[in-house]
Amino acid sequence: MHLRDLIFIKEENRNIPEEEGMDHSLKLLKEGYQFILNRRYTMESNIFETKLLGETAICLTGSKMAELFYDTEKFKREGAAPKPVQKTLFGEGGVQGLDGEAHRHRKAMFMQVMKPDDLQTIRRLFAERWQKHVRVWEQQDEMQFYKNVKTVLFEAACEWTGVPLEEDTEARAEQISEMFETPAHIGLRHLKGWKARSDAEKWMISYVEQVRNGELDHVAGTPLEAFSLHRDHNGEQLEAETAAVELLNLIRPITAISVYAAFTALALHEYPGEASKLDSDDARERFVQEVRRYYPFFPFTAARVRKDFTWEGHTFKEDTLTLLDLYGTNHHPEEWENPGLFRPSRFEGWQGTPFQFIPQGGGEFDFGHRCAGEWMTVELLKEIVYQLHEHLSYDLPDQKLSFSLTEIPAIPESGIILKNVQPV
Ligand code: HEM
Repeated sequence: MHLRDLIFIKEENRNIPEEEGMDHSLKLLKEGYQFILNRRYTMESNIFETKLLGETAICLTGSKMAELFYDTEKFKREGAAPKPVQKTLFGEGGVQGLDGEAHRHRKAMFMQVMKPDDLQTIRRLFAERWQKHVRVWEQQDEMQFYKNVKTVLFEAACEWTGVPLEEDTEARAEQISEMFETPAHIGLRHLKGWKARSDAEKWMISYVEQVRNGELDHVAGTPLEAFSLHRDHNGEQLEAETAAVELLNLIRPITAISVYAAFTALALHEYPGEASKLDSDDARERFVQEVRRYYPFFPFTAARVRKDFTWEGHTFKEDTLTLLDLYGTNHHPEEWENPGLFRPSRFEGWQGTPFQFIPQGGGEFDFGHRCAGEWMTVELLKEIVYQLHEHLSYDLPDQKLSFSLTEIPAIPESGIILKNVQPV
């Protein structure tokens, strides 16, 4: 892009730099995580306008813009997620697209199962499952860590939510991961994501119905029971489809922690000096926080302008699609010293705002859309780095460990092949 592509002349919006051209959706697919970041550099602005999917989109980056984005008086989520994302990643009718009281009530259903005891329970279940899998891995010549850890996470997710484990957990874990691996693809790969969601929803609806008909034992106190019997803010039971979408909003992202797990294994390999400092739970927490800051996962999140407003001279028109750059904010030089360096020590006594470090969204958990599972993610990653570093010996043979910032989600190319895996 050249500077001549930029015009700064819109009367009502004169401070918002605007990218010229009909539509930049293909560039978004091509540039991936760097789409907003690239334009922030060329336009020298944390706010700019572009055209995506045939409409005007405002892009925001940095903590000040994140704070604006998470003002629920100014932005709403209704109609913000593009269809391809709804059909694969989110599903329809889930918490991500709700606003106001309906959102607060539904979000409370999630936060209810995220208490410290719940996090310790899933961490323990994960560790038990991991031990079982290690006994298989040590018999194998080599194993792909990303694929295998997906299955371990998926099994722990089912056990924790109360969803009965099937025989072929690997196949079901693959189906679940299609939902987060395919949203940014086009063609056949994307269609696989649609099919995976449709099949997974059917699978989950059958459990919701069994709970409601009293046909499933051992569900008391589980998220499966809580979500199946949940009543919305009007006192009505959720549609079985919606309850299934929300249960998948637990099982899918827990399985997706495998992406960060693969990056954790990569970081242990690439930064042995940092790995040698992992002698306490606090040190492990700093390490996994830096994994979540440094490596890419969600590029951005989306909302729409609730009603016309002006902010610092910028006019925001009702319904305008607005994207907040998550990856770019975590790498923003105004927010981080040497953002391109992997440096867990930056989190020692870190006193940031809820809008600066936003790999899983920013702002508040209860009233905003910040990820319900952020602390669960940190807890499980701490267990993963503990198990990998303290309780497993393995070799990393020659392989393609690189990842591309134009692929969403980015995953190390080889999936991290481990050889000679042995428990320690
Ligand atoms: C794998 C690592 C994870 C990443 C990268 C991630 C990322 C995100 C992001 C970016 C958002 C949207 C924030 C926004 O729009 O403002 C989000 C929302 C959400 N996440 Fe996560 N997440 C992860 C793990 C989890 C886990 C483990 C769970 C549950 C067990 C979870 C459940 C949710 C839910 C329910 C929402 C919707 C919240 C709302 O709309 O109020 N996520 N996540």
